[in-house]
Amino acid sequence: MDKIVIEGGRRLEGSTRINGAKNAALPIMAACLLLHGPSRIRGVPNIVDIETQSEILKNLGGEIKRHEDGTLEIGFRDGENEGKFTAPYELVSKMRASICVLGPLLSKRRKAKVSYPGGCIIGQRPIDLHIKGLKALGAQIETTEGYITASVERLKGAEISLMGQYGITVLGTCNVMTAAVLAEGTTIIEHAACEPEVQDLANFLNKAGAKITGIGESRLTIEGVQELHGVDYEIIPDRIEAGTFMIAGAITRGDIALENVKVEHLSAVIDKLREIGVEVTPVGNSVRVKGNSSYHPVDLTTLPYPGMPTDMQAQFMALLCTVEGKSVITEKVFPDRFIHSPELQRMGADIRVEGSCAIVSGTPFLSGTNVMVSDLRAGAGLVLAGLVAQGTTHVHRIYHLDRGYERLEKRLTDLGAVIKRIHD
Ligand code: EPU
Repeated sequence: MDKIVIEGGRRLEGSTRINGAKNAALPIMAACLLLHGPSRIRGVPNIVDIETQSEILKNLGGEIKRHEDGTLEIGFRDGENEGKFTAPYELVSKMRASICVLGPLLSKRRKAKVSYPGGCIIGQRPIDLHIKGLKALGAQIETTEGYITASVERLKGAEISLMGQYGITVLGTCNVMTAAVLAEGTTIIEHAACEPEVQDLANFLNKAGAKITGIGESRLTIEGVQELHGVDYEIIPDRIEAGTFMIAGAITRGDIALENVKVEHLSAVIDKLREIGVEVTPVGNSVRVKGNSSYHPVDLTTLPYPGMPTDMQAQFMALLCTVEGKSVITEKVFPDRFIHSPELQRMGADIRVEGSCAIVSGTPFLSGTNVMVSDLRAGAGLVLAGLVAQGTTHVHRIYHLDRGYERLEKRLTDLGAVIKRIHD
């Protein structure tokens, strides 16, 4: 298993380019199951989750070619793959996002058998809302032997609310939307997720011939169409990758520029960084982040978009561990998503977790040690802490990081970090 070794204390300087969004690319790839003819999807990051999604789609008859420049060609031959409707445990267990083939399979092939994704280290991740939405469209769904088996004669438009106990659902909205685009009649989704990645999927589908209105609002209207065609589409920049690099600049009190950023997707992150005292200057499609030595503690609550993304919580926690005073982090999306805090404590951080809150008291310094990654964003938080820690930090189980960040250590090295990957 590979590990990352960081010599902390280097101030980051320079610029890096942000990749296309993983969480937009994954459902868009799945939506290609719906299209007649091949598509070109541009700006797809070269990461393990994209490879896994490619494997799942190949298993379903997909012909997929990746180009050096990050363009993915994806196509399915009509009429040749009707008997392929299974996403097996071996692949689904690698990545929860594979659940987003459920809606497209059901819509296009009238049948889907997808392994139940199960729990997850970041907390409970039920799929009741996905199932509720697809059932409202007329699907018969049962869960047996660890698989969700769904079938339908013809999906029919309906009015559906996707509000759950913890608020809205991102991939649940994607699943119901992709099922509804070829359904008979009109579907209205109330309490739809407004995340930029959901908007990107809707824009992709509209380019392919779908009729979706209300994109970016909590009420989506989808008028079913007969057929969708292949398209050429550029994925939005990854706001979480951008936010992670912004904190790398801030935590090292550095001065870095990020290219290919959609600043409007990062308002909550930028506002919070400014409240902490970080200088953030957007210029067109890029943003400059300049750190300094007088930061203030803040309170932060994760919420659905346009609120603070839960996928930035661990990175902010790492930063706040280095800021004198008391900060309170409240996790409203995944209330148990604090697995990174004991690892940060191993580095000398002062964090007390009480239910869905973490109280972080800044310490004069963090010190390098062995830490273990439990999930993708927890890993990002630990690498950020390692960048500023005194001494050497060994970050283990970095396969989680490889799922979502392309060449992270190489890009941080280019910005002046002393960081390397070791094949253990
Ligand atoms: N929920 C339900 N029922 C459902 C679905 C969700 O109660 O049927 C609950 C969840 O337990 C959670 C909340 O609703 O408390 C939100 O979950 P959501 O469904 O929105 O999460 P997701 O769609 O499975 C996506 C991202 C996650 C990101 C969340 C929240 C992808 C591939 N994944 O997951 O990204 O944290 O939205 O924004 O888009 C990551 O990239 O590291 C990552 C975990």
